[in-house]
Amino acid sequence: MNDFPLFPEQVSTVAPLVDALYLGLVAITGAVSLLIWIVIFYFAVKYRRRPDNELAQEQEPPAFLEMTWIIIPSIIFVVIFVAGAWVFFRINRVPANALEVYATGRQWMWKFQHPTGQREINTLHVPVGRPVKITMASEDVIHSLWFPSFRVKMDVLPNRFRTMWFEATKTGSYHIFCAEYCGTKHSAMIGTVVVMEPTEYQRWLAGGSEGSLASQGEKLFAKYACNTCHLDTASGRGPVLAGFYGKTRPLVNGQSVVVDDNYIRESILNPTAKIAAGFQPLMPTFQGQVSEDDLIRLLSYVKSIGGQASSLPASGVSPDATVPPAETPAGSGRDARPPQTTTIQGTER
Ligand code: CUA
Repeated sequence: MNDFPLFPEQVSTVAPLVDALYLGLVAITGAVSLLIWIVIFYFAVKYRRRPDNELAQEQEPPAFLEMTWIIIPSIIFVVIFVAGAWVFFRINRVPANALEVYATGRQWMWKFQHPTGQREINTLHVPVGRPVKITMASEDVIHSLWFPSFRVKMDVLPNRFRTMWFEATKTGSYHIFCAEYCGTKHSAMIGTVVVMEPTEYQRWLAGGSEGSLASQGEKLFAKYACNTCHLDTASGRGPVLAGFYGKTRPLVNGQSVVVDDNYIRESILNPTAKIAAGFQPLMPTFQGQVSEDDLIRLLSYVKSIGGQASSLPASGVSPDATVPPAETPAGSGRDARPPQTTTIQGTER
């Protein structure tokens, strides 16, 4: 069967589930189609027009027959729904210990950023046997990030963050495709995901970068002068940002909002959309000034200080001691890592 591959290799924890669901649906629909065709041919021959039987006669089908074709298909449909919903939730619920990676789609390339600061173009390095969560947005049109071997795919939209996750089960290099027609070079918007042994991945992570995403975000926080209003104390013109990620925040209009990636994004690009209770709509918009890459860095910084004074599990912070925490401010602990052995950074733009 390996010489005649109908499917890409199964390289993630959900791949066998997706394939089983798909093949199950093909088997059921195939069997039903076959049954219908057999019955059509059988009846067409058996009840063909004959000289002594020119006119059709109305027949009442027996009740047990009616019940059979109501009950059996209903059971089949419920089974399909339950199986589909189960796989759907498996694919959509991000495990708590997932590594965080950020992806940006643009015409026509994929850019990936790791919390430790590494950046890649059309290549993504991930460890084997560990959930990886990808937070993604597009700089222009709708793209779709697709890992055929992992059986996961999601549209990448220009106006919000979306997330997906996978856990690779085998080392190697696998395809990345764009699965949404996005312009002339859509078909060239491809890449490679490199699944590595955890130790190898650690070595790769230690390779050069410009400091963690959060520390890059902290610099931007000062560069865009966010820190002139968002102070550490409540005396600022804007809300204190430390310790608020994942919390529910009351708004001036009496509603409230859960502070997540998309709320932070909206608050930077369209600050007057949801004003925090007790504050004036003073903040200028940063629409068109902050690139997608910088948005990710700012988000990363806000999340890194967001966990403070919080009993909530900070999203993306790794409980696994062998992997650096997803958001470490200011490159702390970097000296302890092995020396650089690989350099794979793609050239930007
Ligand atoms: Cu991007 Cu198709």
